[in-house]
Amino acid sequence: MDRPATSRDIATGEVGLREFALEDADAVLAILLAAEDYMLAATGYFPEGGDLQSLFYALPDGASLDAKRLLVITSGEAVVGVCDALVGWPAPDVLTTGLFMVGPGQARRGIATRAAAIGLGLARDGGFRSVRASCPRDWEPGQAFLARLGFTRATLDRPTTTNYAVPPRTPAVDAWTLVLPPGEP
Ligand SMILES: CC(C)(COP(=O)(O)OP(=O)(O)OC[C@H]1O[C@@H](n2cnc3c(N)ncnc32)[C@H](O)[C@@H]1OP(=O)(O)O)[C@@H](O)C(=O)NCCC(=O)NCCS
Repeated sequence: MDRPATSRDIATGEVGLREFALEDADAVLAILLAAEDYMLAATGYFPEGGDLQSLFYALPDGASLDAKRLLVITSGEAVVGVCDALVGWPAPDVLTTGLFMVGPGQARRGIATRAAAIGLGLARDGGFRSVRASCPRDWEPGQAFLARLGFTRATLDRPTTTNYAVPPRTPAVDAWTLVLPPGEP
């Protein structure tokens, strides 16, 4: 193949999770643009071209850009998903994920489960005590996915702050938490 693999390629390879690289931009943007329903539920807006850039800079109040990480989920050579995280926020032993998504064309193949297992393993080995995720309220795929991983939803009366500054039109987004078992000594 003489072009970068994208999520439209058939993904049959081993699942991986790695830092975003510049050459991933087209594939990640295509994934964001294809997920209209989810992006609308999560942000209140339809996805558009600037969303990739926003992923680098979107921060909740009080978080530092130094804590921000943008990762891609791979299957073989293809970029099939994206995840952004804040390391050590809102507390030093907490890792918070914002967006976590797999391209619509790759759904229900176990890709997100395997990517999450890698990420949770890295978090545990890095000494983090818990992982916090966010999910639009009543967004069934995300809720089912998080519940299956063992996350529990915080019982909050109102939407919480996630990785994003919450604009007025943003629908309710819940925080979900998973307490990690201790890592290897
Ligand atoms: C949710 C999402 C990450 C799942 O990715 P995936 O690679 O399809 O997930 P998996 O194949 O690993 O599925 C694991 C489990 O999650 C649940 N799940 C996944 N997609 C689901 C859906 N559309 N409806 C209901 N449950 C779903 C199921 O319990 C599934 O297990 P099963 O297939 O054995 O029933 C993906 O659909 C996605 O990116 N959606 C848009 C963004 C999003 O919702 N992100 C999650 C916010 S926390």
